[in-house]
Amino acid sequence: MSHYFIGIMSGTSLDSIDSVLVSFDTEFKLYGTHREAIPSDLKEKILRLTQPGQSEIEALAHLDPLLGEVFAQNALALMDKYNVTQTHITAIGCHGQTLRHYPEQGFSLQAGDPNIICERTGVLTIADFRRRDIAAGGQGAPLVPAFHDHLFRSDQQNRIIVNIGGMANLTYLPADRSAQVLGYDSGPGNVLLDAWIHRHKQLHFDEHGHWAKSGRIHAELLRTLQNHDYFKLTPPKSTGREAFHVDWLDSVISTIKAPIQPEDVQATLTELTASSICEDIKRLEKDGKADIFLCGGGAHNTFLKSRIELGLERSTQKTDTLGLDVDWVEACAFAWLAWRAVHHQTGNLPDVTGAKGKRILGGMYYP
Ligand SMILES: Nc1ncnc2c1ncn2[C@@H]1O[C@H](COP(=O)(O)OP(=O)(O)OP(=O)(O)O)[C@@H](O)[C@H]1O
Ligand SMILES: [Mg+2]
Repeated sequence: MSHYFIGIMSGTSLDSIDSVLVSFDTEFKLYGTHREAIPSDLKEKILRLTQPGQSEIEALAHLDPLLGEVFAQNALALMDKYNVTQTHITAIGCHGQTLRHYPEQGFSLQAGDPNIICERTGVLTIADFRRRDIAAGGQGAPLVPAFHDHLFRSDQQNRIIVNIGGMANLTYLPADRSAQVLGYDSGPGNVLLDAWIHRHKQLHFDEHGHWAKSGRIHAELLRTLQNHDYFKLTPPKSTGREAFHVDWLDSVISTIKAPIQPEDVQATLTELTASSICEDIKRLEKDGKADIFLCGGGAHNTFLKSRIELGLERSTQKTDTLGLDVDWVEACAFAWLAWRAVHHQTGNLPDVTGAKGKRILGGMYYP
């Protein structure tokens, strides 16, 4: 009997493609995981398409099937690893690789041809989850809060789930079932930290925030960065590399008269992520403190975690304590969205995305 679902996630950080094998039969269960780095030539092609450039249509047309192949291979490797075949799997939910996210202009673009995933795996593939919500007037993002609601909500305590990926997003889960689940992107997560350490140390990320910890927060730089228009917007809101990129960082640094040490910039960027998360947590929890659970790759950054805890004056936990490893929450969310679509159930939360109603998300590609 086919009862597994696969979720494939490739986020803004471009660190890896993550896939999970899960089931929702009686309750949610994570059976297997698979992570592969994105080949560097493909990463280059993706990065080039996240910024305006020349001959974009050709580049996109070329990248789309290449990514489709990589996603398909990832799913096949997962299936092979756990000895399951297409007959065991009901559907694959694939987020796709975001190249541009401009919901206010009416579009969000994800690449990775689902036809290829379906063709190679022989499994019903569901993709293009964001655009139906945008068509209904929403941001198309964040979509994970509905899954957080499904899996992490408690009747006893208010909870906030903080997903620190390339960008960071928050989900407020009130214990009162009649109260609204809220959520939005707080701003940058790891994307600027990764870009800055890559430029200065040719590393992909700042392991546990050690480099940031060696620097000092530059108060003027922090204030100027915090002046970004995104932080002034009221929710629903979502963001991406278009708003927070290294050219913007360079332009802000150039307005500061005295030279700044690179490690001080790293410390300041870490504080930008931490402070924007703390601000929004305080805004969301209003009355009565919530328990805070971190997930996403940024949850491994111990220095960032300590800065968040300092800002909140309390400790945080990881989603591991709720039964799901921080690294697999997003991929599981897209398997869950596939499960919802298969059962003709809606996947968006209009209070979060701003859509005018609940919608069944995703396009279906039949084997
Ligand atoms: N040990 C670690 N120390 C510090 N940072 C880490 C560590 N492990 C992972 N990270 C950070 O997490 C990032 C990857 O996080 P994640 O996979 O959640 O983001 P993503 O792929 O962009 O997903 P999305 O943006 O969709 O949530 C890495 O690029 C890195 O910055
Ligand atoms: Mg990732």
